[in-house]
Amino acid sequence: MQPAARRATQLRPLSGGNAFLGLRYAFPVQGASSDYKFDHSRSASSLTDKGIGHLIRKGTGGRSSVSGIIATVFGATGFLGRYVVQQLAKTGSQVLVPFRGSEDSPRHLKLMGDLGQIVPMKYNPRDESSIKAVMAKSNVIINLIGREYETRNFSFEEVNVVISEHLAKIAKEHGGIVRFIQLSCLGASSTSPSKHQRTKAAAEDVVRRELPEATIIRPAAMIGTEDRILNKWAQIAKKWSVLPIIGDGSTRLQPVYVIDVAAAIIAALKDDGTSMGRTYELGGPDVFTIEQLVHLMFEMIREEPRFIKVPIPIARLISSPREFLLNKVPFPLPIPEVFNQDYVDSLLVDNVVSPDALTFADLGVATQAKGLSYRISFPVSYWGSIIWCNLG
Ligand SMILES: NC(=O)c1ccc[n+]([C@@H]2O[C@H](COP(=O)([O-])OP(=O)(O)OC[C@H]3O[C@@H](n4cnc5c(N)ncnc54)[C@H](OP(=O)(O)O)[C@@H]3O)[C@@H](O)[C@H]2O)c1
Repeated sequence: MQPAARRATQLRPLSGGNAFLGLRYAFPVQGASSDYKFDHSRSASSLTDKGIGHLIRKGTGGRSSVSGIIATVFGATGFLGRYVVQQLAKTGSQVLVPFRGSEDSPRHLKLMGDLGQIVPMKYNPRDESSIKAVMAKSNVIINLIGREYETRNFSFEEVNVVISEHLAKIAKEHGGIVRFIQLSCLGASSTSPSKHQRTKAAAEDVVRRELPEATIIRPAAMIGTEDRILNKWAQIAKKWSVLPIIGDGSTRLQPVYVIDVAAAIIAALKDDGTSMGRTYELGGPDVFTIEQLVHLMFEMIREEPRFIKVPIPIARLISSPREFLLNKVPFPLPIPEVFNQDYVDSLLVDNVVSPDALTFADLGVATQAKGLSYRISFPVSYWGSIIWCNLG
């Protein structure tokens, strides 16, 4: 066992039973205790002073230096997670990666840092003590947990609201968390036709209630090498020879490059504290209708556009058996590929950044998107290669 870990296990909870206060002794920082706010009257609160100037930094800022950030990234095994972990690691931050399921799921992330820099930790999102364990040594929490469909084990409420509430409450109890970043989604609103977006809005509310200084990021639909829009459409078009698109294809989306979203998260972590307590909406430089995006996808895979428009009521009808059976059958149902009831509902309204929203520029992020030459990577699995395309 490493010396620091050994010291941590020998610690007894201090008065009030708050074991996290023991971190001060597990990781003594000469003359820095007041900076970490362990002795401050506000030590019981969640987020401390603005800015991260008090974090102990060392080195020139590269992967082998020390940024002072020790981040627990929930949902790091997902699409956005890999880019967030990579950008954290390359500036010398330590990243704790809670994962559930297979030991293989966080494997690809370990290569993004030096030995011991990326630490996968098994946890159970329903078990408070395991969440506490993965947060214990961190000073930053990033919550990327989310899912676009419900399963018989996890409803939207549980994934988005209940888990977020647990994380925020535990972060508040922790007393040493300086930043909490919550990933929501563009269109999150209590009045949205989509249950997913309604529960994302509810998650924002519970996080704000516990941690008013949390930063909330609402990305638009994300595109990138592993995205689940263009990739999925391409696979379906290839498999079925025709792509069903829901509705008349006129719903407007503002797809955003996943690497830009990761950069915005890192910028929010590292700013002087202005992003604390704020909500940012992140969209790409161009707005597309679904039909335009579908044409673009066919162009990328060098295929003739072959798609059929499925009217919303019919799409609802096709997707309804899964919804109906979800909690009624004693086995898991297949993941909905196109006909996901909630996805159908979400297409009833445009999903674009609101005109008065704070966005990339307010975080000081220069996106990789440059007007129409917005570069996206697009793997075409059946060609076994990656094609780089310019939109427009
Ligand atoms: N992708 C988009 O286009 C998009 C757009 C707007 C907003 N967002 C939001 O951005 C965040 C990241 O998105 P993403 O595309 O990276 O998501 P993703 O690829 O689906 O990954 C989701 C992550 O959440 C974890 N997760 C899902 N259900 C969980 C549960 N019940 N308990 C614990 N962990 C669970 C997954 O862990 P496992 O690997 O163990 O399943 C995975 O690590 C999410 O909050 C999402 O709602 C995404």
